[in-house]
Amino acid sequence: LQQEAEQKVAEAKNLADLQQVRVSYLGKKGPITEVLRGMGKLSKEERPVIGELANKVREAIATAIDEKKEAFEAAELDKKLQTEQIDVTLPGRPVQVGGPHLLTNIVTEIEDLFIGMGFEVREGPEVETDYYNFEALNLPKDHPARDMQDSFYITEELLLRTHTSPVQARTMNEFKGNKPVKMICPGKVYRRDTDDATHSHQFTQVEGLYVDKDVRMSDLKGVLNQFAKQFFGEEREIRLRPSFFPFTEPSVEMDISCKVCHGDGCSVCKKTGWIEILGGGMVHPDVLQMAGYDPKVYSGFAFGMGPERIAMLKYGIDDIRHFYTNDIRFLKQYDQA
Ligand code: PHE
Repeated sequence: LQQEAEQKVAEAKNLADLQQVRVSYLGKKGPITEVLRGMGKLSKEERPVIGELANKVREAIATAIDEKKEAFEAAELDKKLQTEQIDVTLPGRPVQVGGPHLLTNIVTEIEDLFIGMGFEVREGPEVETDYYNFEALNLPKDHPARDMQDSFYITEELLLRTHTSPVQARTMNEFKGNKPVKMICPGKVYRRDTDDATHSHQFTQVEGLYVDKDVRMSDLKGVLNQFAKQFFGEEREIRLRPSFFPFTEPSVEMDISCKVCHGDGCSVCKKTGWIEILGGGMVHPDVLQMAGYDPKVYSGFAFGMGPERIAMLKYGIDDIRHFYTNDIRFLKQYDQA
């Protein structure tokens, strides 16, 4: 029996044949099992002899099968290695690595500058209530200045925020009128504008707010001057022009001097040599009052700037839509990764 089985093992051509041999010789219905089952019918003397023999035969067959199986598996692996050989001399396929978006970098840079001046970074919701977007900022329902910011309304009371200024009121409310506020808030804002080279229905703003006892206009000027010089270069100058916002009084717009030099030539942007980069002013007493800050004790300044515009100035980008259309050739130029 053992020889017969070993013969079958030798003849097996593959793993399936081998399994067949295992089943027919060692399986539940195989001859060895049969012998072992019949042990009860044997005499006391025969039992150990036959038992030992049966076990030996079983082990021998099992070993033969296992050895053959290992040989088959080794051969299969060899074949696989042969056919799947890699040509290590082929040039690799380049992997495109992404990097942070230009706008992300600009906002981070602005954040870092203001963090350096002691401001904390805060956030607010993009879907805003009419109250925070307008009313808390001294823009009651029928105020004509609401027209300055064409809005996307969701319901009568909810809209996509038209600026980051609502975060001023939210933060002051949260601080409960009894401690200083010094924060900036970057984020997306939305206006019902027709998209063109300088307008986009969605863009970014960075809001700034500093409320404390005895904050003055000169503090605003100092902080903005510091920002402009660090961001654009020491040679830049700033100037403040009177302006109007319902939530600041007095209100200003800030220009920076804009001599732009590339290579061997310098050009002056616009005829005046100045370009506007942000709006700001002293927080209106009514806005402080509504947010729980006593205007007799506290004063503050606020400003809002557009990072797209700032990036366009810094890098000479001529169309705001470049920021959102994700043309890889544009983005790669500013990839610092
Ligand atoms: N929220 C104003 C705007 O979007 C900018 C601004 C912010 C002006 C803070 C004054 C103070 O135009």
